[in-house]
Amino acid sequence: MNKKLVIGNWKMNPSRGDEARKLFTTIQKKAHSFESVETVICPPLIYLESLGSLVTDRSFVVGAQDAFWEHGGAYTGQVSPDMIFNAKARYVIVGHSERRSNGETDAMIAQKMASILTFPLIPILCIGEHHRNDDSYVMTIKQQIIDACHLLNSEQIARIVVAYEPVWAIGKNAVRPCSPQECAEVVHIIRQTLADLVNSSDTARSIPIVYGGSVDRENIVSFVTDGLIDGVLVGRASLDPESFITIIKTVNNAS
Ligand code: PGA
Repeated sequence: MNKKLVIGNWKMNPSRGDEARKLFTTIQKKAHSFESVETVICPPLIYLESLGSLVTDRSFVVGAQDAFWEHGGAYTGQVSPDMIFNAKARYVIVGHSERRSNGETDAMIAQKMASILTFPLIPILCIGEHHRNDDSYVMTIKQQIIDACHLLNSEQIARIVVAYEPVWAIGKNAVRPCSPQECAEVVHIIRQTLADLVNSSDTARSIPIVYGGSVDRENIVSFVTDGLIDGVLVGRASLDPESFITIIKTVNNAS
């Protein structure tokens, strides 16, 4: 049985390296006892190598929040997938809505997916609609997956993780929480889209789908019980060790 995933997206926090190490080791000490979960901490890139050096086993690993698609050269400010791999990361978040809103296009996301998969790295593809005013979210979800995967073959698609992150439910400006039932419906849509892409329901079933958007210690139970998910991607609550540990424990106990 595959382990469930709990991914902490620290975004642009904390502001100092010593704080990052303290937060990381505090969570790491507790997270080790939860055997059914793989915890992934995605810190700002500047801390990645230092935190990667603290990783001791596969149950508690690090990931990057982004990667460029080229492997080296004159690309000021960019960081390549091989640098991220050499910093001991195992995962890379791709296409987060906060990056899409800063100009990241589906074409850029597709290139990043393909480049990351040339290394033993796992892309966490973030997808999600901006609103639920009508049924257009179904098409948005499908199209984002198709666009992001269009440079990949079936074997490569089988190695990805998909994170459903409805933009309207993310962060402190969330319109309202996404219900586990709304999440479960989209998980079906994602699985069907993946099955069509790889031509195999079995392969599609083996691709982890996680949920992200205002996940906290209170609502985590309902998501793991009714959301049909293989894990969660946590923003704000991943910066609070107590909340994050409670989330890991709840996912572990539901597995
Ligand atoms: P949030 O962020 O948990 O703070 O809503 C989730 C995300 O953006 O990945």
